[in-house]
Amino acid sequence: MTRILVTGASGHLGRLVVKHLLETGNVPPASIVAGSRDPSKLADLAALGVETRAVDFDKEDALPEAFAGIDRLLIISTDSLDTPGKRVAQHSAAARAAGKAGVKRIGYTSIPKPDTSAISFAWEHRDSEAAITKTGAAHTFFRNGWYMENLFMSVPQAIQTGTWHTSADTGGISYIAREDVARAIAASLAGEQSGNAVYTLTGSRPVFNAEAAALASEATGKPIAVDTMSDENYTAALQSAGLPGFLVDLLVSTNKATRNGDLGEVTDDFKRLTGRDPVRIEDFIPANAGALAG
Ligand SMILES: NC(=O)c1ccc[n+]([C@@H]2O[C@H](COP(=O)([O-])OP(=O)(O)OC[C@H]3O[C@@H](n4cnc5c(N)ncnc54)[C@H](OP(=O)(O)O)[C@@H]3O)[C@@H](O)[C@H]2O)c1
Repeated sequence: MTRILVTGASGHLGRLVVKHLLETGNVPPASIVAGSRDPSKLADLAALGVETRAVDFDKEDALPEAFAGIDRLLIISTDSLDTPGKRVAQHSAAARAAGKAGVKRIGYTSIPKPDTSAISFAWEHRDSEAAITKTGAAHTFFRNGWYMENLFMSVPQAIQTGTWHTSADTGGISYIAREDVARAIAASLAGEQSGNAVYTLTGSRPVFNAEAAALASEATGKPIAVDTMSDENYTAALQSAGLPGFLVDLLVSTNKATRNGDLGEVTDDFKRLTGRDPVRIEDFIPANAGALAG
């Protein structure tokens, strides 16, 4: 029996991957191990017959035992964005432990174009991929496009103030729903595998900020004007709003990456893995009008 371990299983993506392994992939619960820093958050999965284990990348000594008996491991990248470089240490610790435990295939959630993307934390994904490659285990890199759910963080404020501030007037983002990312990852984890694989999971077309704002405005009935400014003025606006430095860097660099086309690539990897078309933004936004209205 092939055993699959998903780390970060209490998080949004981790939960959805386990859900799709069970429901879409028809993987037996006994083949799945859900890992979390706090396994008590996984009681619902344990009740379904999924084994739960403590998995904390900051506790490297305990990781080889946590990964014992696992054939396929999915390392979900952590949310430790406030300390640049911390995630490389975390993911490298997980990779080393997987190597020690004899895991046959390591999956990892990365971003599109980790070698060249202008996004401030792209290098963390590049170096994490390199650490996994170094183990010698087979790898599957899921280079996940920008979640549609990221709009829940920007649109409510734009609606409140009536203005969407951005420094990306050109370039689009091929948003993908988080659930689609999970669906594709689960299909890969459950499917036949040979050699190394790299998937760039994207929506079906790039969407400019002006179009996303217009769709959100139409769905919520609230006007949103788009104010395109220079990176310098956008940085100053974010700083004066009191955002921490790492977040200012992340947001400004994301706009730069958008202009560069780093987030606008479109692939058919989602369809190849799932046989379906990805959720369209023109369906996602109206379906989530309540959350977007804030
Ligand atoms: N493509 C995009 O647009 C986009 C957007 C947001 C995030 N992301 C990335 O995708 C990842 C998953 O997204 P999400 O929506 O599921 O985020 P989330 O709900 O915030 O989940 C964060 C995850 O990080 C895990 N984690 C944190 N510290 C850890 C540690 N020391 N050891 C092991 N795991 C740790 C958590 O696992 P436990 O709490 O269960 O231990 C949790 O699963 C994020 O962490 C981030 O790297 C991508």
